[in-house]
Amino acid sequence: MNLQTTFYGQPLANCLMNASGVHCMTNTELAELAASQAGAVISKTATLTARAGNPEPRYVDTSLGSINSMGLPNLGLDYYLDYWATRTEPLQFLSVAGMNYTENITALKKIEASDFTGITEFNLSCPNLPGKPQIAYDFELTKKLLTEVFQFFTKPLGVKLPPYFDLAHFDQMAEILNQFPLVYVNSINSVGNGLVIDPKTDAVVIKPKAGFGGIGGEYVKPTALANVRAFYTRLKPEIKIIGTGGVLTGQDVFEHLLCGASLVQVGTQLHQEGPEVFARLTAELAAVMEQKGYQSLADFQGKLKTL
Ligand code: FUM
Repeated sequence: MNLQTTFYGQPLANCLMNASGVHCMTNTELAELAASQAGAVISKTATLTARAGNPEPRYVDTSLGSINSMGLPNLGLDYYLDYWATRTEPLQFLSVAGMNYTENITALKKIEASDFTGITEFNLSCPNLPGKPQIAYDFELTKKLLTEVFQFFTKPLGVKLPPYFDLAHFDQMAEILNQFPLVYVNSINSVGNGLVIDPKTDAVVIKPKAGFGGIGGEYVKPTALANVRAFYTRLKPEIKIIGTGGVLTGQDVFEHLLCGASLVQVGTQLHQEGPEVFARLTAELAAVMEQKGYQSLADFQGKLKTL
């Protein structure tokens, strides 16, 4: 069974990665991921300066997934640029976001001027910053921002998107994204502003934003698959898809690939299980492929059937 793949011209042992935000804040966590069976690793979304994030409790595992309102805690862009400078992985993924329009531009200019040679994931979809809407829900702003970014940014760039729920929105966002030389679109970030209640206390389970937070895990798989499929069928073929959301098993990885994902990220389940999750998922994906008679990812990637 061949689980190998290539992404941006680089061979990877398999299609699995962590989702930015989980087990990737510190050098130690990142090195643990690198030592796992993940095919590639992405660092926590970096802001220009380090952030403590939102007050705790801010991440809770639930029976069907997770709710979080982390608020972009991170050690600052320089920390992650320094980390990647010490590494030799053939493909490095650096996630970044600004706290406002100007900071987005400044952060990307800093990456452009740095020695970083990997792929930058521009996070347009953090739902957990009080008072700050998710950029990618504002289509005009997204177009303006990407237009300005591509006037100076020459390194490989992907974007992390929030989930969309309306076919018209898939059409509109794909029409915008197709205008830019993006390497990939990552769908989806958590489903923003859900609410989980503890039945014992009649209270919310996280402190920030009166309990509202991003939902991940099993709850979100159908939404994630729909977003992967919708963008796979609307974006120009040069823009690859990274599928994120609801990956608990090898069958879930298989379904993301079937919908058109080239790589698949794991968030909630990585948080619950630790980096060993990648060994389990690769073994389970291989078993699914064997049972279906597929030898390689290319045999089924994107080939979802309709009725
Ligand atoms: O709150 C957080 O740090 C999450 C970020 C994200 O979902 O992009």
